[in-house]
Amino acid sequence: MNQDQLKQAVAQAAVDLIVPQLTDRSIVGVGTGSTANFFIDLLAKHKGFFDGAVASSDATAERLKGHGIPVYDLNSVSDLEFYVDGADETNSHLELIKGGGAALTREKIVAAVARTFICIADGSKLVERLGEFPLPVEVIPMARSHVARELVKLGGDPVYRDGVVTDNGNVILDVHNLMIGFAPDVEAQINNIVGVVTNGLFAARPADVLLLGTKDGVETLK
Ligand code: 5RP
Repeated sequence: MNQDQLKQAVAQAAVDLIVPQLTDRSIVGVGTGSTANFFIDLLAKHKGFFDGAVASSDATAERLKGHGIPVYDLNSVSDLEFYVDGADETNSHLELIKGGGAALTREKIVAAVARTFICIADGSKLVERLGEFPLPVEVIPMARSHVARELVKLGGDPVYRDGVVTDNGNVILDVHNLMIGFAPDVEAQINNIVGVVTNGLFAARPADVLLLGTKDGVETLK
């Protein structure tokens, strides 16, 4: 199987996992990226069995609406049973690096609200130690240089993601060569820099379930 087929397999596994648990009042949190897109397309086949979705990006909202799935503002939703999203990296503790698609802040907000965060990823995303993938940091535009200097003090090499503006109107710094020891501490330390909106480490709130696509099939890690 190629990478896209693995992404499709884990997206189908997520659909198989959640659909039997949905009711006509359920609202599903939906992530961003190519794996999440496979999930949206497969979930759409069951759109009569749940109420709607909360989207983690404008792109995801558009795709959901394109399938006729109602999209709700998170503020109008009190209970979100599932959030399904991809990742750029995961370790065996289900701590993640996300934000390759620049949607990290909204993804982290929806994940925080959901009772169960299901991460769907092809096997190449599983790593021994997080940080080979440059860590995305969403930054208020006027703070870009200040935040970059602070990230250098932490040992990283921040690179401005040229031409990218997030759905929140901010910019992204991708931090290369960062030593990520205890991920929850690094996540908090970077979020404490003035001007940072959030960073792509999902360690304080890791995934609850990882559906990992391998050549031997979809593995479930909890
Ligand atoms: C977007 C993300 C994505 O989940 C991450 O980039 C993985 O993307 P893909 O499923 O295309 O490999 O965090 O901000």
